[in-house]
Amino acid sequence: MTSAILVTGGAGYVGSHTVTTLLEKQSDNPEFEIVVVDNLANAYKAGGQKKPEPLRIIEELTKKTIHFYELDISDREGLSRIFETHNIECVIHFAALKAVGESVEKPLEYYQANITGTCTLLEVMRKYGVYKLVYSSSCTVYGEPTRLPIDEGHETGRSLTSPYGKSKYFCEEIMKDLCTSDKKWKVISLRYFNPVGAHRSGRIGEDPAGVPNNLMPFIAQVAVGRLKELLVFGNDYPTVDGTGVRDYIHVEDLAEGHVKAVKLFQHPGFSGFHAVNLGTGTGYSVLQMIAAFHKASGREIPYRIVGRRAGDIAANYADVALSHRLLAWRATRTLDDMCADTWRWQSNNPSGYKTS
Ligand code: NAD
Ligand code: WQD
Repeated sequence: MTSAILVTGGAGYVGSHTVTTLLEKQSDNPEFEIVVVDNLANAYKAGGQKKPEPLRIIEELTKKTIHFYELDISDREGLSRIFETHNIECVIHFAALKAVGESVEKPLEYYQANITGTCTLLEVMRKYGVYKLVYSSSCTVYGEPTRLPIDEGHETGRSLTSPYGKSKYFCEEIMKDLCTSDKKWKVISLRYFNPVGAHRSGRIGEDPAGVPNNLMPFIAQVAVGRLKELLVFGNDYPTVDGTGVRDYIHVEDLAEGHVKAVKLFQHPGFSGFHAVNLGTGTGYSVLQMIAAFHKASGREIPYRIVGRRAGDIAANYADVALSHRLLAWRATRTLDDMCADTWRWQSNNPSGYKTS
């Protein structure tokens, strides 16, 4: 039976790009199947279609088949059936709720989906003897950084302000304890910085429900005329121009990081819990992002400076030495690539997947 990679949340933004990259890097003789579990909490499936739009489009682009199950990761029996049907070799776990502000309003929903759901997944993995996991973590676990660039040895869990951020931190702690309790576990927790961009085809990309919370999709929707202006949250930070600085990383680079992480599982002797930053190591300010997007799109991006957003930090960017050393991975795409690819996706699909 062909071995399979289980991708939870594979119909979402980072998951769909990772599935694409996994399939693109696979030769014509499949060494593994891709099995996606997603409850469609934040993914779109068109009426009459069996698969969510991103997966349907990926199958078109790659000419390969994806096994899809519409299922919540908290559904223990449903998950068990999938482990019985497919020869799951490892799991890439993206499924989570991710809106920081909403998590403050709905902490129980976030802890249920992100922590209880993750524990259920881990239990089912253990039941079926699957001990290899790539986890979607976040630079948010570092809280307010005490040094820059942020390396993986930086303290985590301090000054976390949202249930979302705490859920990512708690899950890492649970996985560390699991790895201590049983040496069979191999967990790579990838701490993403700020994923942006879209697949170079312009056919898959980020499709936030409602008004975007994050900077890049907001800028893109202003550029395409869906939103009137960008509100810039504060210009009095101790940064290059007073606006917040972040380490934006192209989602295709991020996807390649996951492929490298899966490869690392093949190394004999690799075991335990490893947290690895995925970023470029370079920070850009909000105003620099606006300028870069204007250059890529040729569109004006009207903006207005307003007060700081609660919970925001001035700056963060990654120390990327460990990702180079451990994963043999580095980001290769530039800020211009990130903006050009976002613009291709946004201008081809002004209303996201509903128009593609
Ligand atoms: P996304 O919302 O686009 O994708 C998540 C997917 O998981 C969605 O398709 C959603 O329908 C699905 N899902 C949610 N809850 C589920 C559940 N209980 N059972 C099954 N499926 C469920 O988000 P994304 O941006 O692709 O993020 C993927 C992961 O990366 C998340 O774990 C997120 O916390 C993490 N992350 C994202 C960012 C970012 O800025 N995008 C940064 C750091 C970390
Ligand atoms: C970037 C910069 C804002 C929107 C979030 C999560 C974090 C992680 C990554 C998941 C900041 C400014 C933004 C706007 C603005 N996700 N901004 N106007 O806050 O770094 O991180 O995504 O794990 O947990 O918190 O990203 O894109 O929201 O903001 O001025 O309308 O853009 O103040 O400086 P952030 P972001």
